[in-house]
Amino acid sequence: MRKVRKAVFPVAGLGTRFLPATKAIPKEMLPIVDRPLIQYAVDEAREAGIEQMIFVTGRGKSAIEDHFDIAFELERTMTDRGKDISILDATRLGPGNCAYVRQQEPLGLGHAIWCARDIVGDEPFAIFLPDEFMWGSPGCMKQMVDAYERLGGNIISVLEVPREQVSSYGVIAPGAQDGTITEVKGLVEKPKVADAPSNLIVSGRYILQPEVMRVLEAQEKGAGGEIQLTDAMARMIGTQPFNAVTFDGRRFDCGAHLGYVEANIAVALERPALREPLRERMRVMLED
Ligand code: UTP
Repeated sequence: MRKVRKAVFPVAGLGTRFLPATKAIPKEMLPIVDRPLIQYAVDEAREAGIEQMIFVTGRGKSAIEDHFDIAFELERTMTDRGKDISILDATRLGPGNCAYVRQQEPLGLGHAIWCARDIVGDEPFAIFLPDEFMWGSPGCMKQMVDAYERLGGNIISVLEVPREQVSSYGVIAPGAQDGTITEVKGLVEKPKVADAPSNLIVSGRYILQPEVMRVLEAQEKGAGGEIQLTDAMARMIGTQPFNAVTFDGRRFDCGAHLGYVEANIAVALERPALREPLRERMRVMLED
């Protein structure tokens, strides 16, 4: 079985739900406490043994490239002043560990992934949607890679949501279940509640075989007039093994206001220096 060595991070979306914050700053650079969303996703990839990070960017996204580069002036000035720069270690991605490709028009997630086809080449690869913030240990992708090493094929992460929420997401038609693994028999993007095959939604992490690129190449627009990754994956079911892992951890939809605020509180509550003062302030605020 071929190892998952590469990850694609589609970060070319417009982030309209977070305007005006995202007018000049990429959504993926919004911080959860003190680390940007994209940093958590890259750390999760590294933990899962992934070596090369491929970012699909667009106009106005250069802050992401700067974030993973060496900040020479900053590091030099801090060192001269005797300050510890180890906090920056995780932000450096060397030339062998990262690649950037442009999606010239935001034609949809499926199209963004397809833009990375030449760098991905003919090997299985992971996909991370950085605004789906997956918080757990081991991380979501590590749990998926462990499943992949047993099952091969294609693996997606799923989670259960209340049925009335399914219309905002990709939804799976589940087959046989074994612990955290569910066979995927079908996939549908943003179904009506009445038509949804389950309440298990696709949650922003994927391990896919390279054949998906050929399916995307020929693909027409789907829900919302966008080229949908879900539709391409649906066409691969039956030709290759397709399974879902229910993530053992917490997920926050940081593409929406409530999930973003909640993620900040959840992470802050796990920081020893913040936990008690934050609980105290929240107690006071909630009493008002
Ligand atoms: P979203 O559906 O969250 O869209 O994309 P968005 O543009 O980022 O945000 P809103 O809805 O306007 O607020 C899911 C992921 O797919 C990427 C986004 O960057 C995000 O990581 N994406 C989406 C692309 O890279 N290109 C696209 O054409 C669409």
